[in-house]
Amino acid sequence: MTQLNIQIIPAPVLRQVARPILAVDKRIATLMEDMAETMYKGHGIGLAANQVGSLERIITVDVSEERDGKDVFLMANPEVSWHDPEETFTYNEGCLSIPGHYAKVTRPRRIRLTYLNQAGKKQELEAEDLMSQCIQHEIDHLNGVLFIDHISKLKRDIILKKIDKERKEEDGHVL
Ligand code: NI
Repeated sequence: MTQLNIQIIPAPVLRQVARPILAVDKRIATLMEDMAETMYKGHGIGLAANQVGSLERIITVDVSEERDGKDVFLMANPEVSWHDPEETFTYNEGCLSIPGHYAKVTRPRRIRLTYLNQAGKKQELEAEDLMSQCIQHEIDHLNGVLFIDHISKLKRDIILKKIDKERKEEDGHVL
């Protein structure tokens, strides 16, 4: 397995819409495994293909305690078919593409979704709480949406200003 480079905001690929997978072939299956490896190495609970510079509709998720690869979900073309309109769930979200920044995001508590697994087989899944939150965050990535788009403009601007400042400091030269 290969660890892939994670794209950091403001990389344009994070704002682009990923394409549906026509068939889960060997290349896609390998990309899924490499993404899982990259997710674990980055200590993330989820990762979307945009974040490794690939515009294909793939996400990986593991919200288990063990994080040993046994409970990993490798999903192609994940699509929410239903969400609970009544109950919401709020979680302090972070993102491997927006390192060091967190914000409380509220989303539907329960969702149902369909996806293709690594063998290309169609699966249905019901998810709630953190699992649901994480899947929604990752599907957002495939549509060019980031968690900071779900918070107030004021909070978003504070985060974006900090990121800009951090970048300028990194770009600086020590003489
Ligand atoms: Ni993310």
